[in-house]
Amino acid sequence: MKQWMLQFISHERLPPPHDIIVEKQKDGEIIDGRIVSVSAPDTTPVTIRMGVPILADDSVIDSDTAKSFGFEWGSHLEGKIEDESRFGYSLEQEIDYFLTATKESRESLAGKMVLDGGCGPASLTAGIAKLGPQHMVGIDINTATFEAYHHQYEQKNLGLFLCNILDPQLQPESFDLVWSSGVIHHTPDPKAGFDALAKCVKPEGKMYIWVYGTHFSPIVAMRDILEIFGLRSWSNGVVMNLCRLFAALTLPAVWLVQLLAFCLPPFANIATVKNICERWGKKGALRMIWFDVLSPKYRYKYSRATLKQWFTEAGFEIIGEYDYQTGILGQKRKG
Ligand SMILES: C[S@@+](CC[C@H](N)C(=O)[O-])C[C@H]1O[C@@H](n2cnc3c(N)ncnc32)[C@H](O)[C@@H]1O
Repeated sequence: MKQWMLQFISHERLPPPHDIIVEKQKDGEIIDGRIVSVSAPDTTPVTIRMGVPILADDSVIDSDTAKSFGFEWGSHLEGKIEDESRFGYSLEQEIDYFLTATKESRESLAGKMVLDGGCGPASLTAGIAKLGPQHMVGIDINTATFEAYHHQYEQKNLGLFLCNILDPQLQPESFDLVWSSGVIHHTPDPKAGFDALAKCVKPEGKMYIWVYGTHFSPIVAMRDILEIFGLRSWSNGVVMNLCRLFAALTLPAVWLVQLLAFCLPPFANIATVKNICERWGKKGALRMIWFDVLSPKYRYKYSRATLKQWFTEAGFEIIGEYDYQTGILGQKRKG
């Protein structure tokens, strides 16, 4: 943890001002310690573990969602699922998409406070930090976040919190840009997650949210079938093995789609086909995609119209809409 992260904390248990009791530090990074309230020293402090302050409750950290994503990202960080990409995207592709979707550039990010809501393995979070915003903060509930941060903490403008999007305990209106891709639909109350993130945005700041769209997906259909047979009660290890099998079985179908797209250019222009051609054939990507669909407890889908309505209700103007599934960029109105 870095000292500058204190400015973002607004914890119901800890009235400000805050101080940090350092137990272990390395190169200016607080690895282990506690955040205490100076004005209420008897209140239970916030623990800092492996450089990450824990703002979320134990019940959230122990939830099925945190466990399945902890398993997914832990396996990914160990290189057990996918090699050089994430869901088939390279880091360069993810950063390009981030800049396009947020209408930002290296220059425009300078001096900004950026939040990645549900940062997963924090590889994109660290990639954005390297573009040079003043502060880049990632939040997530799964404990693979500790391991993720362990590889990235030298980045001086990067900090991670273990923190529940539904109740973030972060300072309202403290970020110029909030990015949350593929996250709120995995919470029990996506609209509440949306509103909590929207609160973190400064007036005139921007927020980009991406959620699953309502279109048909064969992988999601398989999840629906497996749920009838008790998918939700299977361990993450069993689900992962099943995903390895499904990935091997479906790879020939992906090659067939790729061949058809090569032979029939109009077919290649369909958004789903494009997506399959670009990503699904890469080593390990299918395994990751299968696991990401089958393992999370919650997996809601939304139409573009619903997401746009949420933005409008939260006081945002829509300033960008993106093609595949549902990604919307909004700008918060002044005051
Ligand atoms: C599909 S991953 C997306 C990760 C990353 N945003 C990306 O684009 O790769 C969803 C992430 O949301 C996190 N998540 C789910 N529920 C959350 C919550 N209530 N608060 C914070 N993070 C949450 C999970 O732990 C997981 O890392």
